[in-house]
Amino acid sequence: MSDDQIAVPEPHATPATTGGTDTIDRFDNPGLPPHRPRRSDVDAKAAKRAEHQVSALFTLSVLASIAFAVCYFVVDPNLRGRLILIGPMNLYHLILGLTMAVSLLGIGLGAIHWAKTLMPDTEIAEERHLMASDQASRDETAGVLSAGFREAQLDRRPVLLALTGGALALFAIPVALPTIFGLGPLPGDTLESTVWKRGMKLMIDPSGTPIRPEHLTQGTVVHVMPEGFVGDNHEEDGPSALEIMEAKATASVLLVKLNPGDIQSQKQLDWGVDGIVAYSKICTHVGCPVALYERQTHHLLCPCHQSTFDMTNDCEVIFGPAKRPLPQLPIMVENGYLVAADGFAEPIGPSYWERG
Ligand code: FES
Repeated sequence: MSDDQIAVPEPHATPATTGGTDTIDRFDNPGLPPHRPRRSDVDAKAAKRAEHQVSALFTLSVLASIAFAVCYFVVDPNLRGRLILIGPMNLYHLILGLTMAVSLLGIGLGAIHWAKTLMPDTEIAEERHLMASDQASRDETAGVLSAGFREAQLDRRPVLLALTGGALALFAIPVALPTIFGLGPLPGDTLESTVWKRGMKLMIDPSGTPIRPEHLTQGTVVHVMPEGFVGDNHEEDGPSALEIMEAKATASVLLVKLNPGDIQSQKQLDWGVDGIVAYSKICTHVGCPVALYERQTHHLLCPCHQSTFDMTNDCEVIFGPAKRPLPQLPIMVENGYLVAADGFAEPIGPSYWERG
């Protein structure tokens, strides 16, 4: 093999092969292209203009961070409006998102513009060497860094430096405020009950159709929500979007039409209507929606960790990690439609610290 060729080893081969297609030719180092000075390198006015532009971007970031903090406390979290092309939405979230985005954008664009117009852009080729540097190399590196600092004229641009620090420091606000205050109030006794109350109509979700018992055939399974909490869009005088979201997480119910002869529990029969029974959809393990109903066995399966509940026997757990049966919602007929006869008699969902 000549000195002008480099051996390319075969996978797993120890000796370097020679000749044939396993060699590639050396080529000369083309070197760096000639350095072209930028406008701001040769024109003091252009450099000043760039400095002002960078300052403006960092100032924009500072103002946006302050605006975020003000809006976080001043704007009503339930403020809603209608936007062109988007429709109804929560404006509070929109405002917080926009101010945080502008704050971050100001820092990003400022840093990029500073690097592209004012920072030294001379190309430097660094030769490969052993990882451990000797003292002379370290001294040389320190000298290069000091020279870079001087060339960047950081000591002559204190305003820029201060604004960079200010923008970075204030950007902590949009991150810290939601973390500290965004966890919401303590749950109190809200975990003990849901929005279900006596007389509330059972509505198919998301269509919002009320249910007549005679419309359900044996084996029918429907996902129902209480009247007023169906779908995603709330009415002006109805519950807020947040209340609808909370209801979906706690008040979702699975309605099943069983053969009354298959039901083993008297309580289950009493709390149902002609074999139609309603159970919380929230798994008592860790709260996944239980939604897989097996018609032949009358088993209800949670897809998360396979807890299985027996629908003909008070939804007792017959397999899996859940420790409690699914709570039953008592139902009755009023004016021909299925309605709740009461709320749940016990807390729905998984166990929690204060639960008895
Ligand atoms: S959440 Fe249902 S089994 Fe775990």
